[in-house]
Amino acid sequence: MREVLPISVGAAASGLAVREHTLRTRAERLSAATLETLLNAIDANDSDTGAHVRRVAEYALILGKAAGLDERGLHSVERVALFHDIGKLHGALTDIFHDPSKLTPEERRAVMTHPQRGAEVLAPLSAFYPELAKGVAAHHERWDGSGYPHGLKAKRIPLEARIVSIADSFDAITHRRRYSHARTLSEAVEAIRQGRGTQFDPDLVDLFLSQAVLSRIERAMRRALGPKRKSENRRDGDRRTPAPDITFRWRPRSPASPTPDR
Ligand SMILES: [Fe+2]
Repeated sequence: MREVLPISVGAAASGLAVREHTLRTRAERLSAATLETLLNAIDANDSDTGAHVRRVAEYALILGKAAGLDERGLHSVERVALFHDIGKLHGALTDIFHDPSKLTPEERRAVMTHPQRGAEVLAPLSAFYPELAKGVAAHHERWDGSGYPHGLKAKRIPLEARIVSIADSFDAITHRRRYSHARTLSEAVEAIRQGRGTQFDPDLVDLFLSQAVLSRIERAMRRALGPKRKSENRRDGDRRTPAPDITFRWRPRSPASPTPDR
């Protein structure tokens, strides 16, 4: 009997492994490309929102790491952070979000639809990222059940959304947006502390306010404001500020690309 069979089986197995690896790599690149395309669409529509979601993603990753999430969990948190406000791109809401004047009750009700609208935009990706649409839908839920759209309470709110909620509020307080002035780090810390157990997950707040996490958050915030902008930001938040980079790419980063400190 010829002895070629084991070699042929071995060669076939190795060919299959190579093919499987190639397919997996392609699938990973395609999914990263899809997410980057969505992010590009956010940037193209509103660069301020594009910078905001990147900052929120950076803060959320710092908190997620401190909470002991593994790589998979961290990617999940990053995706929810990057796309939490995608519902604001809806035509019915764009004018409202670009209008700096105080919201009417009707406009406020319209604004409150953005988590659900975002979840609807992302629904086709649910087969690949089951946490994404759910996390985005829940980013304005509150720990005490008084949030929207579903009034979810405590740990019924997805972890990604609980993390992003703190990061989002922190950025909304410390970075000037069209409808609000930037406030100081200590004002932000106080606001997060006051939301402990009402708006936010108390354990995550304790973690966020711990010395180690807060100093990382502060460094990230200073980087985002830029060295010369610390004092300028309060009176001119519309100037472009450097946005943190994302952790996924559909093609490898060039060697010159800076690696975010995460
Ligand atoms: Fe939001």
